[in-house]
Amino acid sequence: NTYVVIMAGGIGTRFWPFSRTTNPKQFHDVLGTGRTLLQQTADRFAGICPAENIYVVTSEKYKDLCQQQLPQLSDEQVLCEPIGRNTAPCIAYACYKIREHNPDANIVVAPADHIILKEDEFRRIIRIALNATQERDILVTLGIQPSRPDTGYGYIQYLPDSEGDLKKVKTFTEKPHLELAKQFVDSGEFVWNAGIFVFNVNAITRAFEAFLPDLAEVFEEGKPSYYSDLEMAFISKAYSLCKNISIDNGVMERADNVYVVLSDFGWSDLGTWKSLYEVSEKDSSENVIDGNVMLYNTKNCIIKTPANRLVAINGLDGYIVAEYDNVLLICRKEEEQKVKDFVADAKDKG
Ligand code: GDD
Ligand code: MG
Repeated sequence: NTYVVIMAGGIGTRFWPFSRTTNPKQFHDVLGTGRTLLQQTADRFAGICPAENIYVVTSEKYKDLCQQQLPQLSDEQVLCEPIGRNTAPCIAYACYKIREHNPDANIVVAPADHIILKEDEFRRIIRIALNATQERDILVTLGIQPSRPDTGYGYIQYLPDSEGDLKKVKTFTEKPHLELAKQFVDSGEFVWNAGIFVFNVNAITRAFEAFLPDLAEVFEEGKPSYYSDLEMAFISKAYSLCKNISIDNGVMERADNVYVVLSDFGWSDLGTWKSLYEVSEKDSSENVIDGNVMLYNTKNCIIKTPANRLVAINGLDGYIVAEYDNVLLICRKEEEQKVKDFVADAKDKG
């Protein structure tokens, strides 16, 4: 009764120009392994559940990309959203639908854009979480030892001496500001939320009813339409009624039955250029290079340019140089948070 829901509807703006509205990062072979991030995510669950229990939730715009990249999934398994309403509606859609299929479903929810280096260890942790949620009304998160006060993550404080592998969560704080993030990391009591969740379908629907009752009501109404021709009509109405809210803000921060499994499986959220820089192999001057590039007196850079473009660079230290589909970005690595603003401004330039 194990199911996997892959969330693949994000746009990944901080990874611009590589990640674009027309072709977000989860559909790219970011690491040059021959498999895209979405494909790697699906591959990772082989052995956890059969392919027919894997669902992808994405935007209508990306339906074809999802089906091309995951031909093993049927039409039924690619759920399309008319508009992005963040992760709470995305998870609600999948879970209410799966419940109609299997009222005892035990579900893993995973983002489509993460890197996991130690896949066997990942599956071991997932099995621990699935065993725990099989019988109990709890919401399980996976916790990663933090290495810096990153404000892009959720922070989980747990009770260290609770039950073996499963630690009871004391507080969950989504994307704290920098001062708070520093305090969290310094205290040693917090882990990052990996953004992967495990729960049985009854536990998550109860959580929606308790903390996001409007959302629960909207998706509950779909009962007769899931797995029928009426589904798309129902979903477009449902999404017009949903507010935009993440599962982290909407449920995890509020629930008191959240647990965490401390995990170490070479996790990285490829959210930004710096995160790709960190996980990639570097040359002797600490550059990460993907492209046809001649470098002089250049260090600590990440350079990703099209293979058919010869690029010569002299005297750069700590820069991102990235070109994709006729857009070129040159930006100090330390200021990569500005990329979001560039994307907004670029919209006006067509
Ligand atoms: N289908 C669908 N629809 N997918 C979505 C939507 C949506 O509206 N919005 C986001 N996603 C997908 C993204 O593609 C990504 O795979 C996943 O959901 C998580 O969304 P992000 O927007 O990347 O979240 P985040 O990285 O800012 O924060 C989350 O992940 C962090 C770890 O990477 C939170 O869970 C944090 O607490 C966590 O630390
Ligand atoms: Mg993310």
